[in-house]
Amino acid sequence: MRILILHGPNLNLLGRREPGIYGHETLADIETRVRAAAEDTGCDVEFFQANAEHALVERIQQAMEDGTDGIVINPAAFTHTSVAIRDALAAVALPFVEVHLSNPDAREPFRQTSLLADLAAGRVSGFGGTSYILGLQGLCSLIGPAASE
Ligand code: DQA
Repeated sequence: MRILILHGPNLNLLGRREPGIYGHETLADIETRVRAAAEDTGCDVEFFQANAEHALVERIQQAMEDGTDGIVINPAAFTHTSVAIRDALAAVALPFVEVHLSNPDAREPFRQTSLLADLAAGRVSGFGGTSYILGLQGLCSLIGPAASE
């Protein structure tokens, strides 16, 4: 199983960006941990980060053609604003999990709306970089070989 892990805008600044909210781990640190955890899931992972909405939409569209079986996405601020990312995920019709480092439901009101949530197979929030690992494990157990046994 091939899982695409997408990071939205400003997540390239992790480690330096509001560490009281997002922690001290860098994106590279998180990806190292996710790669290690992926070994136990039987899923291969590929990562992509973009600050631009169109780049994320294009990478999601590409997932239709490149053998991707599922997506773990932290859409970051686009969670709350992007009809385009929602439509791209609906178009490719691959199972996806929405993840967040913080718990947006415990933050400002504008973060308490997700334009993706009702399409997601599941959501994981509030566990820092571990949210990605929990999301990956959940997605792989949903779509992996064990799911059809
Ligand atoms: C975030 C939460 C979003 O509200 C915010 O815009 C982000 C990061 C998180 O991982 O906690 O950039 O998705």
